[in-house]
Amino acid sequence: MSNIGSYEDRLKNFSWSIAEKELGYNPGDTINIGWYCTDRICQMGKADKTALIWEGREEDNMRKYTFNDLRILTNTFGTFLRKVGISDGDRVCLFMDKAPELYIGFLSILKIGAVAQPLFSAFGDESLFVRLENAGTKAIITSRKHASKVQKILDRLPDLEYIIVVDDDGKKALKNKEIAFSLDQATPVDQFEIFPTKAESNSVLHYTSGTTGQPKGVKHVHYSLISQYLTAKWVLDLQDDDIYWCTADPGWVTGTSYGIIGAWSLGITQCVKDSGFAAETWYRFIEKHKITMWYSAPTAIRSLMKAGDEVIKQFDHSSLRHLASVGEPLNAEAVVWSQKVFGLPFLDTYWQTETGSMMITNYPGMKIRPGSMGKPFPGLTCALLDPDTYEPIHETNKPGLIAFQFDWPARMRTYWNNQETFEKKFKNGWYITGDRSTIDKDGYFWFIGRDDDVINTGGHLVSPFEVESALLEHEAVAESAVVSKPDDINMEVVKAFVTLKPGFVASQELELEIMNFIRKKLSPLAMPQEIEYIDLLPKTRSGKIMRRVLHAKEWGEEIGDISTLEND
Ligand code: WT7
Repeated sequence: MSNIGSYEDRLKNFSWSIAEKELGYNPGDTINIGWYCTDRICQMGKADKTALIWEGREEDNMRKYTFNDLRILTNTFGTFLRKVGISDGDRVCLFMDKAPELYIGFLSILKIGAVAQPLFSAFGDESLFVRLENAGTKAIITSRKHASKVQKILDRLPDLEYIIVVDDDGKKALKNKEIAFSLDQATPVDQFEIFPTKAESNSVLHYTSGTTGQPKGVKHVHYSLISQYLTAKWVLDLQDDDIYWCTADPGWVTGTSYGIIGAWSLGITQCVKDSGFAAETWYRFIEKHKITMWYSAPTAIRSLMKAGDEVIKQFDHSSLRHLASVGEPLNAEAVVWSQKVFGLPFLDTYWQTETGSMMITNYPGMKIRPGSMGKPFPGLTCALLDPDTYEPIHETNKPGLIAFQFDWPARMRTYWNNQETFEKKFKNGWYITGDRSTIDKDGYFWFIGRDDDVINTGGHLVSPFEVESALLEHEAVAESAVVSKPDDINMEVVKAFVTLKPGFVASQELELEIMNFIRKKLSPLAMPQEIEYIDLLPKTRSGKIMRRVLHAKEWGEEIGDISTLEND
């Protein structure tokens, strides 16, 4: 029997107080995610249950932690952070690969009431800089491998006081502001006073890219736990004997909401593999740890499809009982394929960094329509809005903007230092996601696309503006426009168009040089796959570059209304 039972019944009798009661939370109480994921699970009699099975790049580099280990280690790390001088409300960045310290560090930050700011470790120094500057980050927890990127930008970050290096081997002298901390060597702390955070206390700050401007810091609060717990329970269907694997990196919201909080607040055993994608590695991981529940992403699923069905047969995946996916459109073929090879469909889930928890999803026991995102989670008021009037559309199969009443527990509370942009997300009292969809006659949602120019490549949002700005800093580039182009695996990849300044000649060498130049500024995920030289960029009469004309060309689509085009 699945946790959700009947979706229809849950819709009828829904209240978020279901989660509050199960978590023993009464409005007005203190609520601390760090406590809920560790101490509370121990108090419930699961102290000796495995919480984390961690595996490094090499298969034999494996570690296991019980919930009691997690409790003590988060106390230990928290004690250290306090001693250093970090207190409630301070922003503490986590910037490292998927090491155990990342997971333990995250919960320790929450336990002392500070704000966890996880950033993807592949970010280059400039990407790191803008996010640390915006957040006024006080400390960064990192590893030797990544600390040099922090050193490069330190001069420009007056608020950054401490660089905590978790794997310092003592061989080289510590640099400016660096402090070594070893979780293995620190004296374990059993008794710890957790900061009494309340529902609206800040918890996590995730950065996400928009069409214009700098990346936005999505601010979450401890009360988000209520949605994360219940969605993990009903959609991921996590049950006591599950071995759960969320493939997302905690640098992104899936990796924290469901790669840390959802599962551990339910007392579930999670697996983490600290390595990139490779079909064989992934299948071996599932076989070895007898993974039962697997939450992944369309690009990974398409890559597995590409690796072929033969490799699957070499491994035992009979432990799997439930699969789900998030981050980008999950094409129908991928669902049909997974049903064929694993005997299970991937259930698509739709949500955003801003929503903090799942919004539109497929449910265990519900009839799946491959290619559909499913239906809104109980308790949510969702509508498709007319793009001109922002009024709800009532006809079936008519495209509209996906919008929600802004009232579920895990919703963002604002964009950090950017209330103005936050307010722009609302129209007629609705929160506008920026995505378009249709709803069929049975209430299933079918994703159409984004309503802005943001590129979703392999599940990662890339702001064309950020890439264009990086290009413009190169001496040869006069103007630039960045759009997506189709790709088999990543769905879309980044493509840049540039016009050159007088005196520069288009060549392959120059393309390489520009690529190398922007590589230093951008995250590897945002890198263009191609730069095309163009004589003139399509512009409106007011001089605004019309990305959609270039986009349509790349996708072989009708260009649409170009009456405002200047150079036609
Ligand atoms: C955007 C949010 C939430 C976890 C990871 C992404 C796109 C997300 C789906 C889906 C089609 C999807 C949307 C959304 N997206 N899930 N199931 N089908 N598109 O978080 O980086 O904030 O991106 O990803 O465009 O707005 P994010």
